[in-house]
Amino acid sequence: KNAVTIANRTFWVALLAGIGSFAYVTQKDRHPGPQLPHDPSKKNIVVLGSGWGATAFLNALDTSEYNVTVVSPRNYFLFTPLLPSVAVGTLSTRSILQPTRYVTRHKNRAVKVIEAEAQSVDVASKTVSFIGKSAVSERSSQLISRLDNSDIQGSVSSTTIPYDYLVYAVGAETQTFGIPGVKEHACFMKELNDAEKFQRRFLDCLESAAFPGQSEEEIDRLLHMVVVGGGPTGVELSGELHDFLEEDLKSWYPELAGRIRITLVEALPSVLPMFSKRLIDYTMSTFKESKIDIMTQTMVKEIKERSVTLAMPDKTVAEMPCGMVVWAAGNRNRKITQDLMAQLPADQTNKRGIAIDEHMQMKGSGGSIFAIGDCTASSHAPTAQVASQQGAYLARAFAQRAKRDALEEQAQASTTAEDTKKALGKVKIRPFAYSHQGTLAYIGSDKAIADLPLLNGSLAAGGVLTYYFWRSAYLSTLFSLRNRTLVATDWVRTKVFGRDVSREW
Ligand code: FAD
Ligand code: NAI
Repeated sequence: KNAVTIANRTFWVALLAGIGSFAYVTQKDRHPGPQLPHDPSKKNIVVLGSGWGATAFLNALDTSEYNVTVVSPRNYFLFTPLLPSVAVGTLSTRSILQPTRYVTRHKNRAVKVIEAEAQSVDVASKTVSFIGKSAVSERSSQLISRLDNSDIQGSVSSTTIPYDYLVYAVGAETQTFGIPGVKEHACFMKELNDAEKFQRRFLDCLESAAFPGQSEEEIDRLLHMVVVGGGPTGVELSGELHDFLEEDLKSWYPELAGRIRITLVEALPSVLPMFSKRLIDYTMSTFKESKIDIMTQTMVKEIKERSVTLAMPDKTVAEMPCGMVVWAAGNRNRKITQDLMAQLPADQTNKRGIAIDEHMQMKGSGGSIFAIGDCTASSHAPTAQVASQQGAYLARAFAQRAKRDALEEQAQASTTAEDTKKALGKVKIRPFAYSHQGTLAYIGSDKAIADLPLLNGSLAAGGVLTYYFWRSAYLSTLFSLRNRTLVATDWVRTKVFGRDVSREW
């Protein structure tokens, strides 16, 4: 009886503590306090981007010693690992976004957030030029000008600001290899609007196939979905698409669901080359059970309005009719990155991206430009895990740099200050060290795969339990309690009510 009473009390105490801390955190998040203003005596950091690298940097940065300005064409952070779930409607769009201001408003010193696309970086004059992306850009530029006239020159639609330090985190764009028809006819899976476009296009194919009088051949074409690229993006999207089909479309489009086909096309001999052989085989067999066709050693050569042209393993060329193509064939550098690298031709020769040293400094930039994430060519894969660790590292390094700068100033002011010089010698900025936490991917049918580092070896796991691990890992990685709550609620909503099949125009 006593044990039951103790368990009962513990339960109520834990529940109340949970509710209390939830209320405290949400209250604190919603009502940020006053911030220190920009201080002309402090150094200016300009951050380009609001993705994984930039957001991790902003989260960890102590802004007391710096004036910080963030410039990004989107005023939010996008949690990319769950983008395929948004594409098929498992999650709502808003659940995986975090407005950048939700981060910056909690900083000690006010941070300027400017929604604009950087056009160029001038390494010699240490300036960045950018243009507002808003449809009412004239008005928004006037608002920017009012923020701080001393920083901003230029006309209404384009502006230039100086930096002491530039944190360059613009990511990468989707690689098309110049293949004809990709831009015109395929959907990408990189940005939020890609997921929204995918959703509209997919439901468009379904509704068109359901239109009275449609020929059998045309129905089969419309219901054939082709995913190009057997990397994790292509595999996860195929898995999510299969779930949508099994869990919802069979109920709402019973006459069509059995005819929907998913084909994954990969140029290499296998999908998911970054995973262990056992997990690749597991994924292939799960896809086989799920009736997702995998075509390996098959290269897409062209995408037309109603078909894809394939170079087959036996070197023949085949035309495959389809209703929709998703292009997930990897990353390439943005034009602004290529232009930036071109200013430092002696040091920036790596075609994969910006060459950086172990402190994230862009080689040849004289210590004023730091690059992190997918825009760099480091020894690490272009992943969120790497970008966020680099961002957090850089923020810590900036705290050390501020200490060093302050001591250097003191030392310059007095030649006898031996203590200051000693202290200066002790301020060390350690090099970046990546800690790999493992690789995870969702493969559909409530199954995930995971390659996890374990002591001196690694653990390869796949299945339903790994799927719950995948879910909890991503839930805890989401940057805010708000997003965790929204995503968890969406998962419950989808389980109980299913995905929405109404099509927005
Ligand atoms: P991004 O996160 O892409 O951020 C770039 C930022 O720069 C954006 O805010 C963008 O708007 C901004 N920007 C672009 N151009 C300009 C400009 N001209 N001026 C100013 N700002 C600009 N990785 C994992 O580790 N695990 C996963 O499970 C995983 N899943 C993924 C799923 C999908 C569908 C995709 C597409 C990627 C996934 N990744 C995953 C990879 C991961 O998203 C990237 O490695 C990561 O986003 C890189 O971070 P970043 O900061 O370099 O770039
Ligand atoms: P990727 O570069 O990993 O894979 C692209 C694939 O497309 C390659 O296997 C390539 O051979 C294939 N391909 C290219 N052109 C082709 C063509 N014409 N025809 C057929 N196949 C073609 O790209 P992805 O999946 O977009 O991933 C990008 C980065 O993001 C990677 O570093 C990846 O690790 C990371 N990522 C990680 C995830 C995870 O950890 N769960 C999820 C998604 C992305």
